[in-house]
Amino acid sequence: MAPVKEHRSEDNGFFAPALLDWHRGVHRPMPWKGIKDPYRIWLSEIILQQTRVEQGLPYYERFVAAYPDVTALAQAPDEAVMKLWEGLGYYSRARNLLEAARHVAFRLDGRFPDTFEGLRALKGVGDYTAAAIASFAYGLPHAVLDGNVYRVLARVFGIDTPIQLPEAKRVFGQLAQKLLPPDRAAEYNQSIMDFGALVCTPQKPACPNCPFRAECTARSTGKTDFFPVKKTPAKRRVRYFYYLLIEEGDFTYVEKRGQKDIWPSLWQFPLIETEHFLDEEKFLSSDAYKNWLETHGAEPVSQSILSTEKHLLTHREMVLTYIAVKVEKPINTFNEKYIRMFVKKVADLTLPKPLKMVYIGRTQIQPIFFTI
Ligand code: ADE
Repeated sequence: MAPVKEHRSEDNGFFAPALLDWHRGVHRPMPWKGIKDPYRIWLSEIILQQTRVEQGLPYYERFVAAYPDVTALAQAPDEAVMKLWEGLGYYSRARNLLEAARHVAFRLDGRFPDTFEGLRALKGVGDYTAAAIASFAYGLPHAVLDGNVYRVLARVFGIDTPIQLPEAKRVFGQLAQKLLPPDRAAEYNQSIMDFGALVCTPQKPACPNCPFRAECTARSTGKTDFFPVKKTPAKRRVRYFYYLLIEEGDFTYVEKRGQKDIWPSLWQFPLIETEHFLDEEKFLSSDAYKNWLETHGAEPVSQSILSTEKHLLTHREMVLTYIAVKVEKPINTFNEKYIRMFVKKVADLTLPKPLKMVYIGRTQIQPIFFTI
């Protein structure tokens, strides 16, 4: 791929006026749009952090109805909030939500912080969410930087910095901030999000209707699929796999691996991959494991690490840990991502070699290692 020219920093004065102009013709009502209440804006942004607007909307409505202000939320029992969050996934968001609500209600006298830094200090609020609340609630000139913004700016200005690289935040962040009209921050931030959702979409962007069709680098070079550039993550030399050997009576759960990674299309047990090695205590109390259990409605009656072993591949070292997780009720298989299966049937599946070495007993998962 030929190198792409650096984005044109001099001639980007066209961007904000055309974007705001485009937004005037857009009708995309959402209950949190145009409001100034930082509590409701914060709530909507936390819900939407890893969730599509259509999925998040009914949750937002239920939260606002149950807890109309931050003090009401702060006083709610943990279980009630977790219950209301049920089905949204990434449950650490709900735990952080409560922690932040209690901080605002009980430590800050119920007053939401009104600076970017103050907002950013709240549990669960990152740069994006702080900029969204600061601009929407207080009109402060902080440009949001989310997936939509990366995509729109990468395409229009031809920025080929891979968006996962640490410097991407600086490169895109500086441009985003430069493009923001300081006196119209809320409208501008809302516009670029709507633009990314409606026109400059990840697949099949609506280029013929785009106000930037004349200036857009991606369009003029036919490379809308190339931008934003995503670098395939550096292959880690050591990978840490935690396999959950779920025992639900005579049943366990398996899934088929994807085609792009090691062991393509082979079967495996539910897998959690971590960046570093975690010992038993750290793994069992990790967010990754707790979120998995909550997302799948799994309530272990016992859980313990059975073994950890190393497995060498040509360019990689795998550190495989098996965890016995005993449950009494079926788990949520999410439309068959996981298959619920008789434990003894697992022997019929094609498993990666190290997993094959885990022998599964008939009534109880009892890994016994042997050499094939
Ligand atoms: N996603 C996150 N926040 C949003 C907002 N305010 N409008 C549209 N989509 C969003």
